[in-house]
Amino acid sequence: MAPFELRWGIIATGGISTQFTKDLVLDPAGRDANDVKHIVKAVGSRSKESADKFISAVLPSDLQEGAQGGTYEEVFANPEVDVVYIGTPHTYHYENTMDALNAGKHVLCEKPFTFDVEELDELTALAKKKNLFLMEAVWTRFHPIAYAVQDAIFSGKYGKVKRVFADLAFNIEPDKLDAKTNRMIAAELGGGGLLDLGPYPMVWVMMILHQNPGNKERAPPSSVKGHMRIYERTGVDASSTWIVDWKDVGTAVCTTSIETQMNLERCVTVQMEGGELTVDFPTFRPEGYTITPKPANREDADPEGEGNANPDANKTQHHSHPVPESAGRGMNYQADEVARCIRDGKLESERCNLAESRIVQSVFDEVRKQGGYLGGNAKGKAGTR
Ligand SMILES: NC(=O)c1ccc[n+]([C@@H]2O[C@H](COP(=O)([O-])OP(=O)(O)OC[C@H]3O[C@@H](n4cnc5c(N)ncnc54)[C@H](OP(=O)(O)O)[C@@H]3O)[C@@H](O)[C@H]2O)c1
Repeated sequence: MAPFELRWGIIATGGISTQFTKDLVLDPAGRDANDVKHIVKAVGSRSKESADKFISAVLPSDLQEGAQGGTYEEVFANPEVDVVYIGTPHTYHYENTMDALNAGKHVLCEKPFTFDVEELDELTALAKKKNLFLMEAVWTRFHPIAYAVQDAIFSGKYGKVKRVFADLAFNIEPDKLDAKTNRMIAAELGGGGLLDLGPYPMVWVMMILHQNPGNKERAPPSSVKGHMRIYERTGVDASSTWIVDWKDVGTAVCTTSIETQMNLERCVTVQMEGGELTVDFPTFRPEGYTITPKPANREDADPEGEGNANPDANKTQHHSHPVPESAGRGMNYQADEVARCIRDGKLESERCNLAESRIVQSVFDEVRKQGGYLGGNAKGKAGTR
């Protein structure tokens, strides 16, 4: 059967739109996705010049002629576009997604999905009303490593999960950045570590605790405690720490920062009854994990290593699950999921569904409330200075 072809419109020509589009147009066979195909039909920018430049710089020469450069509105109105990818700063996600849905397009929107849960609820309701597919671009969830880590933990071999520690932090040297225009620190652009980097610790926490077989009903967290160190120049968070608890499953301690570099050895640590699993750096695109079994808790383990049916049972083992080179950076796995869902008439992805995005967004809302965040969205709606 011929692969299902999905026709994309790209909104914005910045860093992540460039990366996403480069990966999108790679041959799906390079990642064993032989049932789907992606084609870029339109690129939208605040400047027509930038859209045209993007098409010639990012798309392979044989695809350039078929792609139209123009404004965001022209992309939404383009009848050849099935789905729109939104790669604008956080505080524009709501407005851009709203416009795309109103124009009858399916949407894949960058993380964080919206500025707050109220915006997300409106988008979710609109997508449902219009019978359109909607997903947050949480690409890591679709990487080989994500499935492998879940398989290792959910196999039950190491007992129940007790605690998860997850971090993503970089020193971006905020004092050197423009406080009005740099999206990482500007209040009006929803700056700070939580909204930009925080989605990644939450990727692992959601996959390990929320999707845990022990959370049979997929209940939301029972408590959220947040703390922020405020970056005085703009009122956004310089460093954030939040503790999320799933009753009957386990506790997560999440951290993020834009003023210090994280420990590269430990971006995610999962403590289980029978051992510890650590996920390789970086939190957003790891390619391996390490298991250190706890011999005392292992039925088949022998602390001395002798007479053991499985001599490796006690040993620390690293497991590799790379994104193949032919898949580029790997932002295309999520696009394959979008294509399959749309092909099959689904309005949301099971693996990256809207209820889970809502939980993450609600956690961020709560942490900002408790932490005294002063950034606001583009409409000046929330907590603006
Ligand atoms: N999934 C990931 O790994 C990942 C990585 C990085 C970023 N992101 C997310 O993607 C979004 C964009 O991040 P980015 O790093 O690509 O940002 P960026 O390089 O600054 O690009 C953002 C683009 O949005 C458009 N834009 C519209 N209004 C704007 C405004 N007022 N100020 C600045 N740009 C505006 C611009 O494109 P035009 O001029 O063409 O309109 C700009 O180039 C963020 O929400 C971020 O969280 C995701």
